[in-house]
Amino acid sequence: MAEPIIEMKDVSFSAQNREIVQHTSLQFEEGKTTAIVGPSGEGKSTVLKLAAGLLVPSGGAVFFQGKNMAAMGRAQNMAFRREGAVVFQDSALWANQDLFQCLELPLKIHFPKMKPADRNARINEVVKEVGYIKDIHIRPAMLSMGEQKLIAFARAMLCRPRLLFLDEWTESLDDTAAKRLIGLVKKLQAEKKTIIFVSHNLQIIKNMADTIVTIVGGRPHLVLTKDQFVENENLSEIIERGVVGEPQENARGDTL
Ligand SMILES: Nc1ncnc2c1ncn2[C@@H]1O[C@H](COP(=O)(O)OP(=O)(O)O)[C@@H](O)[C@H]1O
Ligand SMILES: [Mg+2]
Repeated sequence: MAEPIIEMKDVSFSAQNREIVQHTSLQFEEGKTTAIVGPSGEGKSTVLKLAAGLLVPSGGAVFFQGKNMAAMGRAQNMAFRREGAVVFQDSALWANQDLFQCLELPLKIHFPKMKPADRNARINEVVKEVGYIKDIHIRPAMLSMGEQKLIAFARAMLCRPRLLFLDEWTESLDDTAAKRLIGLVKKLQAEKKTIIFVSHNLQIIKNMADTIVTIVGGRPHLVLTKDQFVENENLSEIIERGVVGEPQENARGDTL
C-alpha cells in the first residue's frame, strides 16, 4: 500500500473505566472505501470517531498523512476538519438551530469570505442532491430520523470533503432515499474520495467496499480485501457477528 491517508497505530480508547477500543492498528488507503462491520455495541462507532480525529486515543495514535492528529495545531486541525466530513449514527444536527443554520455554519467557519448568496446556492445544491424537499427553516426535532440523516449527509457534502466517515448512513432511510445516497457515495468513489463507513447492509458492503474490517470486543478481528469477501459464503455471518465459525470469547469475555 502507498502511504495510508489515515493510520491508526495501536489505538486504545477508555471511557468510564472501560477500554472500549483496544490496541487497534488499521490503515486506510487514499481513494479506497472501507466498511467497518460487526455486532452492535462492539466499538464500530468509536473506531470511526477515532479514525476521524474526533476522539483522542488514551493509548497509541492516529495519523493523517503521517501527522499525529493529537499533536496538530489549530490551523492543521481546521484544515483536516474541512477535508474530513462525518455523518454520525444519530445525525447529530444542532438541535437549537434550524436546518438552514445547521448547513450554514460549516460554510461560515471554513469559508469565512464566502458571500451569503454563494452560501445559499451551495446549501440549496446539497439539499437537492440528497433529495430533501421539505422546508429548511425548521428545526431537526421536526424531522424523522431518516430526514435528519439526509440533512446530516448534506452537511457532510457541503465543503466537498476528501474523506468521508459515514456511520450507519442508510439505516433509517426508505429505499428511494437510500438509493439516492448510495448513488452520491458511488459518485464520490469515482472521484477517488476516501470513504470509511459503518453498515449492516450486505448489498451495500458487497458492492461498495474495497476492504471489510470487522470489530468485535473493541478490536479488529478480520480484515478482508474485495477478492476475499465478494464470493465468501460466510459474508452475512461476518457482517453480523464479525467472526466466522465456532462461538468464541471476545476481549471482554462475552461469549459471541
Ligand atoms: N463515551 C462513552 N462512555 C462510555 N461508554 C461508551 C462511550 N462511547 C461508547 N461507549 C460504549 O462502548 C461500546 C461500544 O460503543 P460503539 O462504538 O457505539 O459501538 P457500535 O457502534 O459497534 O454499536 C458500547 O457498549 C457503548 O455503550
Ligand atoms: Mg455504532
